[in-house]
Amino acid sequence: MAISIAVASGKGGTGKTTISANLAVALSKFGTEVIVLDADIAMANLELVMGLDGKSTTLNDVLAGNATIEQAIYEGPAGVKIIPAGISLDAFKKAKPEKLVEILSALHDMAEIILIDCPAGIGREALTAISTAKHLILVVNPEISSISDALKVIAIAKKFDTNILGAIINRTTMEDSELSSKAIETILEVPILGVVPEDPNVRRCAAFGEPIVLKYPDSPASQAILQIAARLIGKEYKPEKVEKESFIKKFIKGLFGGIK
Ligand SMILES: Nc1ncnc2c1ncn2[C@@H]1O[C@H](COP(=O)(O)OP(=O)(O)O)[C@@H](O)[C@H]1O
Ligand SMILES: [Mg+2]
Repeated sequence: MAISIAVASGKGGTGKTTISANLAVALSKFGTEVIVLDADIAMANLELVMGLDGKSTTLNDVLAGNATIEQAIYEGPAGVKIIPAGISLDAFKKAKPEKLVEILSALHDMAEIILIDCPAGIGREALTAISTAKHLILVVNPEISSISDALKVIAIAKKFDTNILGAIINRTTMEDSELSSKAIETILEVPILGVVPEDPNVRRCAAFGEPIVLKYPDSPASQAILQIAARLIGKEYKPEKVEKESFIKKFIKGLFGGIK
């Protein structure tokens, strides 16, 4: 039986898709079988971040009753199974979000963790995703508008009996104007699962459709996400120390290569 986790936020653009995609890859790297499903059926972009765009059968087709869920599962980076939402407006118009419950139960034997990349806001699609999942992770930014919207999501999750695992604070910059982790924890009254810094490599990777935890595993955002993934599955993660050879060392090695 898989553990289903909705990745939600309230406010748009906090980093739900980035976190869902990279958490999925990180969990998979640690040996967990993961499915990541794009429940943002109107603004699908998980497939772009995962480099899987242009798939013919998507979640919208399944929700519209035109395909089976098995037809919409694709193998993505690091062996993660991905269910893209698709960008066809036609399929989206016919999609029935209520079918998500049925779909999730069909997926339960296919993985250990199912991550659901939710739409922003508290519209019908977001509510369906939050109520369908057993657990929820909030992705917030360290600013008051993001936190106040997250409070609404917390209230909704409680109403649906969806267990809140905690919040990930994304895009921190250490600026004075930012809310501290402690303040966010106090306001939201949920555990802080991790803090992911603002990292220019995130955008770079999104542009090329490559998850940052694979392309730049040593980058600060990757390190934070790997740590959160390890924590979720009760694993200890020690950042690997990559010892960079100095130029001089490389130069000498090049000159005297072979001589010990
Ligand atoms: N830690 C980060 N550092 C820098 N940019 C980020 C970070 N997290 C997300 N972003 C960028 O912020 C934008 C919104 O992220 P996205 O994951 O699409 O948010 P959401 O799914 O919540 O709408 C994207 O351009 C993404 O590349
Ligand atoms: Mg998104």
